Amino acid sequence: MQTNRLHIFERKSYDLDPWNFLRSVRSFRRVILITGTPGVGKTSVSRLLASKVGAVRIDLAELVQREGMTSGTDKVRGSLIADNEKVSRRIREIMKTHDGDIIIDGHYAVDVVSARDVHLVFVLRRNPDELKKTLEAKGFTGRKLWENLEAEILDVCLWDAVKACGAEKVCEIDTSGKTVETVVEDTVSVLEGKEKCRTGIADWLGKLEAEGRLDDFLKS
Ligand SMILES: Nc1ncnc2c1ncn2[C@@H]1O[C@H](COP(=O)(O)OP(=O)(O)OP(=O)(O)O)[C@@H](O)[C@H]1O
Ligand SMILES: [Mg+2]
Repeated sequence: MQTNRLHIFERKSYDLDPWNFLRSVRSFRRVILITGTPGVGKTSVSRLLASKVGAVRIDLAELVQREGMTSGTDKVRGSLIADNEKVSRRIREIMKTHDGDIIIDGHYAVDVVSARDVHLVFVLRRNPDELKKTLEAKGFTGRKLWENLEAEILDVCLWDAVKACGAEKVCEIDTSGKTVETVVEDTVSVLEGKEKCRTGIADWLGKLEAEGRLDDFLKS
């Protein structure tokens, strides 16, 4: 009993933010992050998931572009750099005005949403062979291609998610060889508590090492 009481007390003190407190009383709204290396299927999966669970979906890349929330250009990679503080502020605004579930799609979603607001983070994983094909079809070549494959092999998005939100909120989903529909079913099963939210399911590094193919991928 004593332990439970302490636990409740600790939870309350953690949630002293008045907005969080109001939200928890008014609704059980969930903020769900869909992250992963570029090309793993975040947008395809989050679109279908949002329509299945009746959530609003925020695509960070679209939001940043539409509202001009950039802080410069990455000349080496030829891409715009998002202004994370502005994006974070904008997301807090959206959360204040929207009571329903929100799905946030983007590989840096964990950097722009406060961990205490996050219900779960889904980190989509795709084996390097499939991801390479997808990225090449998207027109990625050279450094941009190899850097992203390396990030997937080295679990960069997974580690970022665990560091930002804690392992208990991070669920890894292997999308390799699955359709978008199946991946969405997997995420719904976790959201409904039918499947456990787990990490440690993808080990591309171990797989490639065992196959003697690691050097074929770590080229950046
Ligand atoms: N589970 C899947 N099976 C097969 N193809 C998929 C799957 N998910 C996505 N795709 C395809 O892979 C490509 C990349 O998907 P998508 O744009 O959703 O990825 P993303 O993670 O949002 O990429 P980015 O980070 O660049 O926005 C698309 O052509 C999409 O149709
Ligand atoms: Mg996308």
